[in-house]
Amino acid sequence: EEPPAVLAVPQAGDPSLLLLGRVGAVDPASLDDYRAHGGYGALRRAFELGPAGVIREVTDSGLVGRGGAAFPTGRKWQATASQPDHPHYLVCNADESEPGTFKDRVIMEGDPYALVEAMTIAAYAVGAHRGYLYLRGEYPRAIHRMEHAIGQARARGLLGEDVLGQGFAFDIEIRRGAGAYICGEETALFNSIEGYRGEPRSKPPFPVEKGLFGRPTAENNVETLVNVVPVLTMGAEAYAAIGTPKSTGPKLYCVSGSVDRPGVYELPFGATLGELLTLAGVRDGLRAVLLGGAAGGFVRADELDVPLTFEGTREAGTTLGSGVVMAFDGTVPLPRLLLRIAEFFRDESCGQCVPCRVGTVRQQEALHRIADRTGAAAAADIALLREVGRAMRDASICGLGQTAWNAVESAIDRLGAYE
Ligand code: NAI
Ligand code: SF4
Repeated sequence: EEPPAVLAVPQAGDPSLLLLGRVGAVDPASLDDYRAHGGYGALRRAFELGPAGVIREVTDSGLVGRGGAAFPTGRKWQATASQPDHPHYLVCNADESEPGTFKDRVIMEGDPYALVEAMTIAAYAVGAHRGYLYLRGEYPRAIHRMEHAIGQARARGLLGEDVLGQGFAFDIEIRRGAGAYICGEETALFNSIEGYRGEPRSKPPFPVEKGLFGRPTAENNVETLVNVVPVLTMGAEAYAAIGTPKSTGPKLYCVSGSVDRPGVYELPFGATLGELLTLAGVRDGLRAVLLGGAAGGFVRADELDVPLTFEGTREAGTTLGSGVVMAFDGTVPLPRLLLRIAEFFRDESCGQCVPCRVGTVRQQEALHRIADRTGAAAAADIALLREVGRAMRDASICGLGQTAWNAVESAIDRLGAYE
C-alpha cells in the first residue's frame, strides 16, 4: 500500500519542461510507460559516446550541482573517473532535508526511472559498478517507488551484470536515512552507509579521491543527476543554450509560504524571483523571501528583480542553495521565525566540533531571550550573535556550522529584524 501524495506540482506534465515534463504524465510504476515517454534514450547515447564522451558532454553542458553548492558535475566525474584506486562508487544524495526543500521528492515519486537511468549513466561515466541511493527515511512514498523502479530495471536487464547487453555491470542499493539532517552532508552520509555515526569528515581529501569506504566516489544530488538525461538526449550545446552562460539549464524551485499555489516549479535559470512568485500566486503584503533555506538569506519585497542564477543570488547577498523560496508576509513574526531556524541548527548539529556545538546553542539562547522580550534586542545580544556567528562561520568543520548564522545575519542586516 502506497503512502498518499501530498506535494503540489502545478506545472506537472507540461511537455515543454525538461525535468517535470514526465511528472504526472508517466505512470511511475511502469518501465514500459517510461520508455514510451523517451526513457532510456539517454543511456543508449551514453553507450555510443563511451565514458569519456559522456564526461565531455556533461562538462560542455555547464551542468553544476543542484544540491546547493553548484560544483561543476563534469569536473567531479572526470576527477573520479581518473583515480587509479578501485573500486569507484556512485552515491546519489537523496537525503533531502534542507527546510523548505522538496524537489527531489517530486522527481523520485513522479519519475523514478529517470533517476535509475541517470545513475546508470553517471556510474558508466565514472567507472562505478555499484551505486547507493541514500534516501531520506521520511519519504516512504519515494522509497516505495524507487524500490519498485530499481527492481523492474533489474528484472529487465537495465541493471545487473550486463546492462542493455553492453557488457557494463551496475546495480543500485537503497539506504534509508534515519532523520538526521547532517547525514545529507556527503561525508557524514558515507559514514552512515558504512555503519558509523553520521559525522562529517574533514575535506580534503575530497570524495572524488577518498569517499565511500575510502574509495573514489562521485556523489551527486537527485536533481543534478536527472539533468544528465536531457544533456545527453538534446546534446550539450542545446542544453548550455538554456539559462545564462554561468548557470545553464533548467532549475527546480520549492515555493512555499505566502503564495496561493505552493509547490515545485521548473524555470530556466535567469528568470527573476518576481516572475517565479507571480507564477505561484504571491499574496498581498509580501515582506521578505528566504532564498536557499535555513542556510540561505533573505531578500526584501522591493528586491524581487533578483535573477535566479547562482551568480545573481550571490551578488544579491544570498544563495540559490537547493532552490528554496519561502515567502513571508507581515503576519509572520520574524523573531519567532529566526528562533525556529536557530532551534533547528541547535538540534541538528552533530556536536563533533566546538564552534558549531556550542555556537548553535549560544545563538539559540540569544534569539530566545530576544523573542521573549517580544522582539526587542539588547545591543549586547546582537553583539554576541555576531561574535558567535563569526566563530561558527570561520571555524566549523562542515557547512552546517559554517552557515548556521546566515539567515539570522541577513534578517538583522537586510530586514532590520529587531529594530
Ligand atoms: P562544498 O562546496 O564543500 O562541496 C560541493 C561539492 O563539490 C561536494 O561534492 C565536494 O566534494 C565537491 N568539491 C568541492 N571542492 C572540490 C575539489 N577541489 N575537488 C573535488 N571535489 C570538490 O559544499 P557542500 O558542503 O557539499 O554543500 C553545501 C550546500 O549544500 C549548501 O549550498 C546548502 O545549500 C546545501 N544543502 C542542501 C541540502 C538539501 O537538502 N538539498 C541540505 C543541506 C545543505
Ligand atoms: Fe558537526 Fe556542526 Fe561540526 Fe558540522 S560544523 S561537523 S554539524 S559540529
